[in-house]
Amino acid sequence: MVASGIQPRAITYNMLIRGVCKKHMVKEVDKLLDEMVRMGCTPDSIAYTLVIEGQFGRSFLSSYQDESKKSETMCDNKSMFILGMGFVGTCFAHQLKSNGWEVFGTCTNENKKNKLEQMGFNMFTFEADKDGQEALSAIQDMSHLLISIPPVVGLGDPVLSLHQDFLRIILRDSKLCWLGYLSSTSVYGDCGGAWVDEESPTKPSKSSALARLAAEKDWLDLGRDLCVCVNILRLGGIYGPGRSAVDTIIKRKSLSNDHRTRESKRYTARVHVADISQAIKASMDLSSSGKIYNVVDDDPAPREEVFSFAYNLIEQKWPGKFTQAPMGSAPFKHLVGEKRVSNNRLKEELGVNLIYPSYKLGLQSIVETIKTRLISHGFW
Ligand SMILES: NC(=O)c1ccc[n+]([C@@H]2O[C@H](COP(=O)([O-])OP(=O)(O)OC[C@H]3O[C@@H](n4cnc5c(N)ncnc54)[C@H](OP(=O)(O)O)[C@@H]3O)[C@@H](O)[C@H]2O)c1
Repeated sequence: MVASGIQPRAITYNMLIRGVCKKHMVKEVDKLLDEMVRMGCTPDSIAYTLVIEGQFGRSFLSSYQDESKKSETMCDNKSMFILGMGFVGTCFAHQLKSNGWEVFGTCTNENKKNKLEQMGFNMFTFEADKDGQEALSAIQDMSHLLISIPPVVGLGDPVLSLHQDFLRIILRDSKLCWLGYLSSTSVYGDCGGAWVDEESPTKPSKSSALARLAAEKDWLDLGRDLCVCVNILRLGGIYGPGRSAVDTIIKRKSLSNDHRTRESKRYTARVHVADISQAIKASMDLSSSGKIYNVVDDDPAPREEVFSFAYNLIEQKWPGKFTQAPMGSAPFKHLVGEKRVSNNRLKEELGVNLIYPSYKLGLQSIVETIKTRLISHGFW
C-alpha cells in the first residue's frame, strides 16, 4: 500500500487488525500496532478494543464492562464505615449524614457509643486488641471505609496486625470500593525547614512516625490486593471547635510535655477539622487509587505565635477574664521535625478550596461560637 503511494490511516490499520484478529494471527497484530506507531497513526480505542476482543473474545470485554458498571453502582451506594469515630471521624460523619449517607462507626466504650447512636449513627464498640469480628463483619456491606485509628508503636496498625486475615476474607467479594487512611505529616521527619510534598522521601525519626509509615503501606497493600481504591491523607496538627489554642486557654489547661516540646519548632503544619472533612470527601469523589495527599493549611506558623494570637482574640472579646495560657518553660530540645508541608496537590488535584487557609481564620471562627458550646458543656 505504502509502496503504491497510498498513505494508510488509523481506519485502514483498524480494518487490517480486525482481519488478522479473526484469523488469530497474534504476531501480525503486534506488527501492525508497531507499524501504526512508526507511520504516525497513534492506535486509538477502536484498535485496542479490536485487539482485546481478538485475543480474549467478546465475552471478556462485556464481562469487564459489567464489572465496571457494577463498581460504579456500588460506589453510588452511600454507606460509610468509620473505624475510630474520634474528633475527625465524628465531624466527617456529621457531614456525610447531612448529605444523605448512612454512617456506621466504632469507638472503644459504651458511653460514647450511646451518645453517637443518639446522633443517628450506627455504632459498634471495637477495641482492636480484642475480638472485633462483629464490627468488622459489617464493613462488607459498605461502599466506603475510613480508618482513623492510630498505629501502636511496636505493633503497627492495630487493626491490620490483629485482624488482617479476617478482613481479607470478608472483603474479598464485598461491596467496598473506596478506603481512606488518615495518616500524619510526621512521616516526613526532620527536613531542616525545607518544603516537602507527597513525592518527597519519608524519613521518620520517631517510633510513632515509623509505625505510621508502616500502617500506610499495609493499608495500601490491602487495598491493592482487594482492587479497592485507597487514598492516604497525611494530616497536619488537627484543630477545630473543642480542640484548639482558644479551648486550651479558656479551659485553663496546661500544655502536655509533647505540646511544649513542639513549641520549639519554627514551622508546624496544622489543619482545621472542617478542611479535613472537605479533603476526605474530595478524595472519595475523585477515586484516584493509591494516591497520597497532604492535608494542611497555608500557614505553618510556630505554636507560640498561634497561642499569642488566640490569647489576644480572647482578651478582645472578654477583657481580663482569662490569663495567658500556662505554657510552662519548654524543656530544652534542639529543633526537630522541621519542615514546611506543601498542600499544592490537595488544591490542584482534589480541587479543595480551604475554608481556613490560616489558623487566624480558624481561631476567629472558634472564638465566635465557643461561649455557647462551653456553657452547654458546663465549662463557663
Ligand atoms: N491529633 C493530631 O493533631 C493528628 C495529626 C495528624 C494525624 N492524626 C491522626 O489522624 C487520625 C484522626 O485523628 P483524631 O484526632 O480524630 O483522633 P482521635 O480523636 O484520637 O480518634 C481516634 C479514634 O480511634 C479509636 N481508637 C484508638 N485506639 C484504638 C484501638 N486500639 N482500638 C480501637 N479503636 C481505637 C478511638 O476510640 P474512642 O472514640 O473510643 O476514643 C477514636 O475513635 C488518628 O489516626 C490520629 O492519630 C492526628
